[in-house]
Amino acid sequence: MLPQPIPYQGSKRRIAPIILDHLPKRMSRFVEPFAGSAAMSIAVADRNRAGEFWLNDAHLALMTLWQQIIDHPRELGDQYTAMWVEQLGRERAFFDKVRDRFNQRQEPADFLYLLARCVKAAIRYNAGGEFNNTPDNRRKGARPAEMCRRITRTSQLFHDRARLTAWDYKKVLRECEERDFIYMDPPYQGVRGQRDRRYLPEFDHEEFCVQLAELNDRNIPFAVSYDGRTGDRVYGEPLPAHLDLVRVEISAGRSTQATLLGRSELTYESLYISPALQALGATRKPAATTQLIFQ
Ligand SMILES: C[S@@+](CC[C@H](N)C(=O)[O-])C[C@H]1O[C@@H](n2cnc3c(N)ncnc32)[C@H](O)[C@@H]1O
Repeated sequence: MLPQPIPYQGSKRRIAPIILDHLPKRMSRFVEPFAGSAAMSIAVADRNRAGEFWLNDAHLALMTLWQQIIDHPRELGDQYTAMWVEQLGRERAFFDKVRDRFNQRQEPADFLYLLARCVKAAIRYNAGGEFNNTPDNRRKGARPAEMCRRITRTSQLFHDRARLTAWDYKKVLRECEERDFIYMDPPYQGVRGQRDRRYLPEFDHEEFCVQLAELNDRNIPFAVSYDGRTGDRVYGEPLPAHLDLVRVEISAGRSTQATLLGRSELTYESLYISPALQALGATRKPAATTQLIFQ
């Protein structure tokens, strides 16, 4: 099982092995400009398919947590353990205390604890820029021994070979070179906008398409997770045909929403493969759960 130290809504952890099938066998540097919990970088590092990594996310508190995971895993594990034990018997009050403290100081261990305990592991801020998600009272957060194992393993995977930045993705793309491979999983089209603008730079579909066209011009290989569908319902705008991308549909399993409503519908996510990656050749035949759609 791949280690996932940061609980994160929208993590690609479950479908990472399928996405990996579409990436080059060996990469010089694997770049994730929208890293989040960096499920793809973890999968690539775990399979030893890249020599170096660049994890970037515009959310500064998240990248500070990443730095702590990689550079100070024992200290972070100890801090998490102390908080996990201290919460027992007064979980709700303790969560509120840590949330207040995080809103004042942005300490990485506090952020890790909040993500481990909050509803759907979702990062939410109010208009004043304060983290305001509430605890999931059924979850105490991963047990300390398990969390320490995940942190230690992840630190080993990236130690001495990962660059960490908290930039807008465009700045990362500008610095990339032909030897790089870029995997992008931008904010979901349904949730981006007003809410995120308070702590993240704006993300614009048209501008993103211009950025991808520039990567094509510079012959830099990339793959993008973007739109998708549940049953017949499509979400998100597809990427335009002029970018010459091949779209692969990946089955991401049953939709929990549809299951709740008594329907059994599968969710599919699009993975777009750039011309430079197509030229490198697919590493494997697509698995049974994927469909190739050429546009
Ligand atoms: C869908 S999530 C990525 C999830 C990730 N693939 C994983 O496995 O956890 C998108 C991420 O993009 C970041 N983000 C949003 N706008 C950004 C921007 N303009 N530049 C860089 N990162 C941005 C968000 O903070 C968020 O973590």
